[in-house]
Amino acid sequence: MSRENPKSKSIDYDKVSKVYDNVRVGDPEMVHQLLQEVNLDSDSLVLDVGCGTGNNTLLFAEATHARVTGLDISHGMLEKAREKSKQVPLVQAPADTLPFANETFHFVFMTEVIHHLPDPGSSIEDAYRVLSPNGALCIVTQSHKQIEGRMTSRFFPASAMVDKERYPDIDVIDEYILHAGFNKMIPKEYQFRPTQLCEDYLRTVENRGYSMLHKISREDYEQGVRDLKAAFTNGEKLTYSADYTFVWATKE
Ligand SMILES: C[S@@+](CC[C@H](N)C(=O)[O-])C[C@H]1O[C@@H](n2cnc3c(N)ncnc32)[C@H](O)[C@@H]1O
Repeated sequence: MSRENPKSKSIDYDKVSKVYDNVRVGDPEMVHQLLQEVNLDSDSLVLDVGCGTGNNTLLFAEATHARVTGLDISHGMLEKAREKSKQVPLVQAPADTLPFANETFHFVFMTEVIHHLPDPGSSIEDAYRVLSPNGALCIVTQSHKQIEGRMTSRFFPASAMVDKERYPDIDVIDEYILHAGFNKMIPKEYQFRPTQLCEDYLRTVENRGYSMLHKISREDYEQGVRDLKAAFTNGEKLTYSADYTFVWATKE
């Protein structure tokens, strides 16, 4: 099912690669949740689509005996991943034209990638093609409800509107999955580590470290920064938890 997402193409990840790891780290809890649902051994081949700077790829590779490959369209992001590990194979290619034979992998996953893909349906179809029978796909993303609940959405409401246009909601991803031939499993929602926000959050916002802050008007951005500073000044306790939906599918 081919449905182009024109809003997804605009981020230059070669440029972003220079600062990406300043605001994003690997997520051990996310990797732990992925590993809970799949049975892998040293013969298993795993593909991380849109692996970026390899943060989750490397955590995953360290936590399992399976052989993990990272794939990304951005040369810059892969260069950063390469600096961290020479062991994990890294491949530069788009997610909808995976340079692998049919039925190669036992598990394919993508974390925070689906909203960047120009044609998510074709990418999911290609994931189906490269998965072996009984293989599994997991797409880790945020539902529209989870986007609305972000701390950033409270201070920058326009950013939630932007991201709800970029992110396919879960029912849309479900359609892609079923259309590709997968069996769908029930999506699982997780809330990780509620933590109290500190000045680091303000600094990230001031550096526009979140991509959607580049996509809202200057007025909306400046108003949000003022409101956020006021909340800190008033001693308000700002608690944040990373909310994700894990969309699982299996190939018979
Ligand atoms: C938000 S980053 C997520 C990186 C990594 N998965 C993580 O969790 O840190 C999105 C990544 O998707 C990659 N990407 C965007 N469009 C892509 C495409 N069509 N094919 C493969 N990768 C793509 C970007 O280059 C970027 O590295």
